[in-house]
Amino acid sequence: MFTIASESLAGGMGKTTVALLTARLLAKQGYSVLLVDADPQSSLTTFCGHQVQKNHPTMLEILRGEVQAADGIYATDFANLFLIPSDGGLDSVQDFLASSGCGAYMLRNQLEPLAETFSFCVVDSPPQRSQLCLTTIGASDALVLPMEATLKGYASLDRTLELLDLLKRTKVFRGELLGILPFRDKWVGNNRTKQSRRNIEAMAELIGKSNMLPSIRESEQFKEAINQKLTPSELGYQDLEYPFEVLINKLLNMVGVSHAVDTTLVGAS
Ligand SMILES: Nc1ncnc2c1ncn2[C@@H]1O[C@H](COP(=O)(O)OP(=O)(O)OP(=O)(O)O)[C@@H](O)[C@H]1O
Ligand SMILES: [Mg+2]
Repeated sequence: MFTIASESLAGGMGKTTVALLTARLLAKQGYSVLLVDADPQSSLTTFCGHQVQKNHPTMLEILRGEVQAADGIYATDFANLFLIPSDGGLDSVQDFLASSGCGAYMLRNQLEPLAETFSFCVVDSPPQRSQLCLTTIGASDALVLPMEATLKGYASLDRTLELLDLLKRTKVFRGELLGILPFRDKWVGNNRTKQSRRNIEAMAELIGKSNMLPSIRESEQFKEAINQKLTPSELGYQDLEYPFEVLINKLLNMVGVSHAVDTTLVGAS
């Protein structure tokens, strides 16, 4: 199983949108995908149409080690796509992770027994520099960093890179950077707005052009697709899915498989 986390140290940067669509598109290609909702806001759980039932294990019980990860996995409405859900109660795990002394490694440890069950695990992270954020980075083999094409997005990238630098030096993060995904890139007709252009250029200067993925356009149709539990192409807007085609190609290259390779080779069911 190859684990990708969607991270950014600010709210509304597109983490959940990117985690959900990446997982949906991988699952559509036949890969067996586990989505992990590591954010107490539980937007991913909601987007998957999942309702947490009383006494049914969630991310909270898994991180506390009260149940095995396999016991907190639920089917979704989509083929090949499974979910470890969360709810607001997940916030209470922060103290547990901090006092355990090894919080950053907890998610990786709990997911380990699933290594042969899924091809990919896609983790949605919370927007704060917190124990939950650390444990998602510690669990990931690759990170995608969605950042709004605004000054706030640029500042968030700066802070996120600073944290990643520290976590790399301390060997908490042993994965690779999949790329920066500019989010809500605004265009008027055929022209990108000055604000979007400036901020995306500034991000590229900070991280290097080769780490920049194509941007996600600000788009009502894109939002509409997500709200209808569809991918943009399923709603007839193939173009809007382009950044994800590039992201998934880069991911598959990183894992060492091509689109043409039989999915059973990477453990898809
Ligand atoms: N292409 C798009 N154009 C405009 N808005 C979009 C687009 N895609 C998603 N959105 C909206 O942007 C908002 C933020 O997206 P999202 O929830 O993915 O961010 P987030 O980083 O997960 O936020 P949080 O930090 O609160 O978890 C959502 O309201 C979503 O509906
Ligand atoms: Mg979110």
